[in-house]
Amino acid sequence: MSQSSPQHFIVIGNPIAHSKSPEIHQQFATQAQLQICYNRQYCPNDTASFIAVVEAFFNGGGVGANVTVPFKQIAYQLCAERGQLSSHAQVAGAVNTLMLKKGKIYGDNTDGQGLVNHLLSLGWPLKGAKVAILGAGGASRGVALPLIEAGIKQLTIANRTVSKAQALIEQLCTASPIIDAIDPDYCALELLEGDFDIIINATSIGLSGDRLPLKDSLTCHYAYDMMYGRELPFLSHFTNKGAKVSSGYGMLIGQAALSFKLWTGASVDPSLLLHNQ
Ligand code: ATR
Repeated sequence: MSQSSPQHFIVIGNPIAHSKSPEIHQQFATQAQLQICYNRQYCPNDTASFIAVVEAFFNGGGVGANVTVPFKQIAYQLCAERGQLSSHAQVAGAVNTLMLKKGKIYGDNTDGQGLVNHLLSLGWPLKGAKVAILGAGGASRGVALPLIEAGIKQLTIANRTVSKAQALIEQLCTASPIIDAIDPDYCALELLEGDFDIIINATSIGLSGDRLPLKDSLTCHYAYDMMYGRELPFLSHFTNKGAKVSSGYGMLIGQAALSFKLWTGASVDPSLLLHNQ
């Protein structure tokens, strides 16, 4: 496929200089033989500035925008008030992908499906799996529904503030008729115990160097940290207990591939980027 002028994309965030999205999407465009121009867009941290940036971009002919920290919830509000939301964005309460549909702003959330696709590409079994998610903030909300849809059998959400884990489980019960089939549960993070197939760290503790208060009796076959970068204490903890582990770089590429497909219609292979990492 060829085209005469490039399609324009941005990723909006604050800070944004570190974002790897332009390089990732450029590699997807090469795979799909499309010409694109994908830029990092800094935005002051307030709602009015975010809306102004989004309007200017789409009024100027932009095709698609990714949204990152701290704007995912503001993007959700914008789409809820003036446009449309996908079911995944509705449950997540957050939007990472913006585009126009019939002239109106449309928000989706590809984070959770990006995670699911990465787990499947690693060969980690999801069908029938007993899964625990640590954390009940935006990252956790974004991945819970896609994991349920991928066929897990049991989901426990464990959080430092247990009321937030309870609220998220209750929201999932309302949003998804299939959750009844999967035995949902919640508890305080420091009380989580037992043997899980997969434990996913969706807290923001990440690279801080701090350690989560995990019981020694908590074990798993596979441990996934949604963060990526230097050595993650969560992953070292479960490596020492004999689990297979992965950081979230593949999820980053996975969510990007899904955004790219929404915008351009082109399917790309995210695993090619992982091998070139
Ligand atoms: P994000 O969008 O990255 O999910 P968030 O919505 O602020 O960010 O949520 C952060 C999550 O990490 C929350 O579940 C938070 O627990 P609380 O709800 O109790 O605040 C969790 N978290 C952050 N720092 C933590 C720490 N030091 N120990 C345990 N949990 C932590």
